[in-house]
Amino acid sequence: MSQQTSDPKIYNKSSNPSITQVMEKEVSRRSVLKGSASLAAFSFLSGLGLSGCSSDSSDDTPVAGGIELGFDSIAGTKIDAVSVPQGYTAQILAPWGTPLNNQANDWDPDGNNTSTDQLNAMGMNHDGMHFFPLKNSATEGLLCINHEYINCDHLHPNGPTSPGDKRPAEEVRKEINAHGISVVHIKLEDDQWQVVKNSDYNRRFTAGTTMAVTGPVAESSLELLKTKYTTEKGDHKLARGTNNNCGNGHTPWGTYLTCEENWPDYFINHGTMDDKQERIGISDSVTRYSWETVDDRQEKETGEFSRFNITEGNNPEEDFRNEAHGFGYIVEIDPYDNKSIATKRTALGRFRHEDCSFGKLTEGQPVVFYSGHDGKFEYIYKFVSEALWNPADANPVDRLTVGAKYMDKGTLYVAQFNEEGKGRWIPLVESTSATPVGGTLGDKIGTLAEILLNAPLAGDLVGATKMDRPEWTAVDPESGTVYVTLTNNDERAQGDASNPRPDNKYGHIVRWNEGASATEFTWDFFLFGSDDSEDAQTNLSGLTASNEFGSPDGLAFDDRGILWVQTDGGEVDSTNDQMLAIVPSRISAPQDGSPAVNTDNQDELRRFFVGPNGCEVTGIAFSADHASLFVNLQHPGNWPPANGTTDATEETPVGFNVRPRSSTVVIRKVDGEPVGV
Ligand code: FEO
Ligand code: CA
Ligand code: CA
Ligand code: CA
Repeated sequence: MSQQTSDPKIYNKSSNPSITQVMEKEVSRRSVLKGSASLAAFSFLSGLGLSGCSSDSSDDTPVAGGIELGFDSIAGTKIDAVSVPQGYTAQILAPWGTPLNNQANDWDPDGNNTSTDQLNAMGMNHDGMHFFPLKNSATEGLLCINHEYINCDHLHPNGPTSPGDKRPAEEVRKEINAHGISVVHIKLEDDQWQVVKNSDYNRRFTAGTTMAVTGPVAESSLELLKTKYTTEKGDHKLARGTNNNCGNGHTPWGTYLTCEENWPDYFINHGTMDDKQERIGISDSVTRYSWETVDDRQEKETGEFSRFNITEGNNPEEDFRNEAHGFGYIVEIDPYDNKSIATKRTALGRFRHEDCSFGKLTEGQPVVFYSGHDGKFEYIYKFVSEALWNPADANPVDRLTVGAKYMDKGTLYVAQFNEEGKGRWIPLVESTSATPVGGTLGDKIGTLAEILLNAPLAGDLVGATKMDRPEWTAVDPESGTVYVTLTNNDERAQGDASNPRPDNKYGHIVRWNEGASATEFTWDFFLFGSDDSEDAQTNLSGLTASNEFGSPDGLAFDDRGILWVQTDGGEVDSTNDQMLAIVPSRISAPQDGSPAVNTDNQDELRRFFVGPNGCEVTGIAFSADHASLFVNLQHPGNWPPANGTTDATEETPVGFNVRPRSSTVVIRKVDGEPVGV
């Protein structure tokens, strides 16, 4: 079940064509082409993730020697517990409020923990996540976990308060500290993963943690980050903290990437809004939790709360007009060095980043990162590094220096999806033509730093394709094909008879292959979500009760080639949100333009996991031996049972109401063998 966490407003007012329009034309045209002259028109598909597959579109014979799912699709469930296939276990690990050190008191089921407790304990609403092994171990490592937002009703004993319209400082501090990222040292002992309390590795990052900012926005002579606080510190290349860390990524050199998504909802401008602030979604009337209303006399440091009010005052040295320029980035964290400073990489653009994945690496070629902007009719981006990949950088002494090498200089592109499966990456640089308005991005927006700072506006000006809420990206480790979840879009224009997907209620997955140059790609449809009760015009992938799903969101390949799909608010009648698995290399893409997963092969898509009532299933990580699969359950409704059990399959007793806790769940096989196969 979805919570209203994404911003439902449409900020993209451009007249760029949306993928839904392209899709309507495509599906319509493809059904006409089906079985006839389509082969030539869709010859681009031959390169799409088909290594080892038959070229016969009707032949779904498994690839010899390829990986195969080793479980049967499980039934959908709607209970206050998780469901896993037979022969599997599911363990609750590190739920919200778990102390990371002795500075935190134990989690209080009545909600009375303090802001200091919260700063030293697991945050709320677990989301993106990655497992970093210690000494190459599969049984000991560091989990980096995003905490996207909070549920105030559960965080505080009796919900939030605003006496006299001012939020109390202690409550807001606790809220800030429940956001952010946890780095938590974990260890497998006696078949149970444990948090290593008081480990030197354990860390929290919040909106109160000072961070470095690098890349063009930081280097700009315009001092785009200058605030009263940075002036006081004498350093205009820093940002105060991170927020709304949704999806994640990691790098080939062993660092964590955390992605700032719905941060604009936390800033307010009571003065004159400029077009750029409106485009990104900053409000002139309300913020998510009204943090800016705390009486500033209660601030522990300059602008602790008042910085969320970015109304212009006398000058940037005395106000926080530029504070929001420090948010909206991919943030790099070195989890292995507890003294390291988290670093915001501005060259990858500023928007509502959902997640970030790197493309298949080739020695001597640039490193590429993909990231979607989760918003209705927003865009998909890629960053191509200036530096060329040197495999020696996979094991560096100083990871953040390698991060600077590959992530601070390069080119940000925005995607244009065209008909016949062709696509174009448009560079967001000063010299790029602004179409159809004329001139260049430099003329219309300004320097490279200003273009990156306003990447969605730049996308508008170059004709980028409006997508149906891009969420996670994932890269096939073998073929390099890139997949993206487009979760849903209830404001897509009504279609006609030739449009099988009005309103895109269930979402879909598109994939692409890079072309011969950095500006070309080819794409096709991989999978459409649907309830199984929908007709064939909607249920384009032929889903059944065994695998019906909606609102694909979390998405990741493991390095064996299994693609894991997680859902957020998927409106299908038989089940709560879930995680499914599929091996794309086993599927031959039909060459008539219909989706790769269809009635002929949909048995390849299998439901692996179902979450408890009310939750979203998001975030995925693996131990190197694939024996432990970590997923996160965000905002469960009445779970876990609060009886001390660590068994995630144990149901909260009927009639028993708990203070719910987001949590990691570790899925293992009873026999300890790799999961999924
Ligand atoms: Fe935070 Fe778009 O999911
Ligand atoms: Ca159904
Ligand atoms: Ca998400
Ligand atoms: Ca979502």
